[in-house]
Amino acid sequence: MRVLVVGSGGREHALAWKLSQEAEVVCTPGNAGIAQTCEVAEVKPEETERIVALTKQREIGLAVIGPEEPLINGLADALRAAGISVFGPNIKAAQLEGSKSFGKRMMVEARVPTADYGEFTDPDSAKAYVGEMFDKGKSVAVKASGAAYGKGVTVCLTQEEAEDAIEQAMVNKVFGPAGETLVIEDCLFGKEFSLLTIVSGKHYRSLPVAQDYKRAFDGDRGPNTGGMGTYSPVSWLDDDLIKKTENRVVLPLINALADKGIDFRGVLFSGLMVVHGEPYCLEYNVRFGDPETQSIVRRLGGGFLDALLGAANGEPVPKFEVLDNAVVTVVMASEGYPGKYKKGRSVAIPNDLPEEVVLFHAGTSMLMDDLVTSGGRVLGVSATGPDLASARKTAYEAAKRIEFKGKFYRSDIGA
Ligand code: AMP
Ligand code: GLY
Repeated sequence: MRVLVVGSGGREHALAWKLSQEAEVVCTPGNAGIAQTCEVAEVKPEETERIVALTKQREIGLAVIGPEEPLINGLADALRAAGISVFGPNIKAAQLEGSKSFGKRMMVEARVPTADYGEFTDPDSAKAYVGEMFDKGKSVAVKASGAAYGKGVTVCLTQEEAEDAIEQAMVNKVFGPAGETLVIEDCLFGKEFSLLTIVSGKHYRSLPVAQDYKRAFDGDRGPNTGGMGTYSPVSWLDDDLIKKTENRVVLPLINALADKGIDFRGVLFSGLMVVHGEPYCLEYNVRFGDPETQSIVRRLGGGFLDALLGAANGEPVPKFEVLDNAVVTVVMASEGYPGKYKKGRSVAIPNDLPEEVVLFHAGTSMLMDDLVTSGGRVLGVSATGPDLASARKTAYEAAKRIEFKGKFYRSDIGA
């Protein structure tokens, strides 16, 4: 079986690495690290017709789409129309992530526990709503409805902040068309986690949970990022809470989608807040999380390929093996990230890293014969061990030995 992985980040490297254990993998466009794992093609995710042609030319049996943009733009539909098995939801299902307004409406329709909210297309009514909420002693999260690639949410503890967030999105249009509609919801306070579930129509099977760290600096300080590291397993999440989340957040949604004739085949990423032991849904995404996936794949044994293939073909999701190990993934980033940062800095990787360590490249490329940085998140240093403490120690020892100018990483992943 030959599998195509679409994308170029740490998530796609992790998927390509794992799937290479069970299949021949082609990745497009990939990156310098992925090119060490498998064949890469120089086709971008937005070049739909070229990707379709590539799947024919390379006789692809399964296409796995990593990032949300091509899903929201209908790449899965185009590939399916060409007769390819695709792991990744179609354009209608991808609206769960492409439109927060659609996501919230589906939560309400499916009676999924979520924060109360209002939806607005003009700043005056949005500000009036926010005024009412603060009068009631609530605070709010202001969310650009469209896809703003992780930047569209502002959690506002004062009315002034909320009014400013509305102004930025609707008047200054900092998120472009994505901010034309705003979802404004009650602020929830609790512990966050995300559950990634392989969904095939009404069938599903969840992946082991990996805890993400969104803030740039230690102690959850600094700006929000795409994710600075993950660990798994997560001790505060017991099986009961996972079951509850599946029963209240995953199952009602996929049934409601099916009732609408929307066939979801891919990963449902439920972003959750646990309030007094009860899971509330903050958002749905329609793809693997990054860097969550970099930890998750290292906890899987056999059967991952068959699980993705089963879902791609609309069958019940076959069981896959979950290992009894622990993993810590530390993201090494470029100084300045998530703001401005320099690219093109040489990366030196020791050639005697222990076998428990796998490096997932997120933003690297080759310049002549030199491996250089080409992104804000550069590498995910992923280490396994019998327990978290040992995985953590191994990951940080490796991170310390990898050099590039301006490297930085959080020192508290998995602590
Ligand atoms: P989202 O893209 O909807 O997951 O929002 C990004 C982040 O904003 C989440 O991971 C939470 O940390 C925070 N957030 C979103 N919605 C809420 C909410 N209703 N209450 C508190 N925090 C929220
Ligand atoms: N790490 C969060 C995400 O992938 O959305």
